[in-house]
Amino acid sequence: MKTTLSVIKADIGSIAGHIKPSRALIDSVKECIDRQLGKLITDFYIGSTGDDVAILFCHNHGTGYGELHQLAWDAFICGTEKAKEQGLYGAGQDLLADACSGNVRGLGPAVAEMEFEEREAEPFLLFTADKTDPGAYNLPLYLGFADPMHCSGLILSPKIGRGFRFVILDVAFTEEDRVIELDAPEELYDIAALLRDNERFVVSAIYSRATGNQAAAASTTRLHNIAGKYTGKDDPVLLVRCQGDFPATGEILSPYSIGHYVAGFMRGSHTGPLMPVKMGGAISYFDGPPIVSAVGFCVHNGKLTEPVDCFDHPYWDFVREKVARKSYDMREQGFSGPAMLPYAELEYGGIVSIMDKLEKKFSR
Ligand code: 13P
Ligand code: 13P
Ligand code: MG
Ligand code: MG
Repeated sequence: MKTTLSVIKADIGSIAGHIKPSRALIDSVKECIDRQLGKLITDFYIGSTGDDVAILFCHNHGTGYGELHQLAWDAFICGTEKAKEQGLYGAGQDLLADACSGNVRGLGPAVAEMEFEEREAEPFLLFTADKTDPGAYNLPLYLGFADPMHCSGLILSPKIGRGFRFVILDVAFTEEDRVIELDAPEELYDIAALLRDNERFVVSAIYSRATGNQAAAASTTRLHNIAGKYTGKDDPVLLVRCQGDFPATGEILSPYSIGHYVAGFMRGSHTGPLMPVKMGGAISYFDGPPIVSAVGFCVHNGKLTEPVDCFDHPYWDFVREKVARKSYDMREQGFSGPAMLPYAELEYGGIVSIMDKLEKKFSR
């Protein structure tokens, strides 16, 4: 029997600004989903990263299943009601439509889904990020699946060494999905040429070339493309299956030690390094820095083990120190140059009215 993992994530309100959802909000989301345990779903997990709530569902209905998406939407509505009751900030922030009619894609929440035949042991990672956009996963996925500097399996395991197929989406094209499939290692430079542009090209899935099995699924939502204005950052989610014919868990985690600079941070308008944090982490300095958490599980017959917090280890304390330093270095230059995103990324916000006003004041 096939198992489907669906992770659906939204910001539906948080304490003290864009910081962290309340316990009561998360409980109300959980209560709503609990009622479907053993019916629509075989298991679930709820976690928060910064101000975002992610629900991981295990079920047998395949990807894009209407009733499952509806359940997530309804649970987020329950959470939004609790957020309003508590006077939380940004209640219902990411629910950009009045109602859901079977699929939350394009309505605000971020979605990543994968259906597969369970292996005897099925280890996987759930990544959730806050204060950034889907392109934040481009570099770690490239390095984890295509670079032996991080994925030693590419040279140590013949099956992994066959390489991986990257499915990349052009997120600037909103009329329909514009995708390209490229194979590593033969087309490595073409993959890099696209993935260097994190705001336009985003990895949506990765497949093993040895077996054809899916290794990764990522959310690709750009909220400003949906809302037509700035309503919050996309805060993407990612599922990665590990071990066996896929990279080892530690190879997938390895690139997060870089703390590479991504788009996001304060008002979703700046550049900051991606800090690997513990599960349930809050936001602080300059509404950031951008954060990512990694929760490890095994799934068996549709049931999840307890979660393992993969960035809760002394090694990552050292990385966090380094990333804090990188944040400070960039923040020292405030709004100048690469510290703030280019105009094309800001044009959904208030800067447009300033530019319109100044346009009239220019001499010619
Ligand atoms: P084990 O031999 O303990 O399974 O470890 C193999 C491995 O892939 C470690 O990265
Ligand atoms: P979120 O996208 O996480 O809600 O953050 C929005 C923001 O503007 C932070 O400064
Ligand atoms: Mg928010
Ligand atoms: Mg957020």
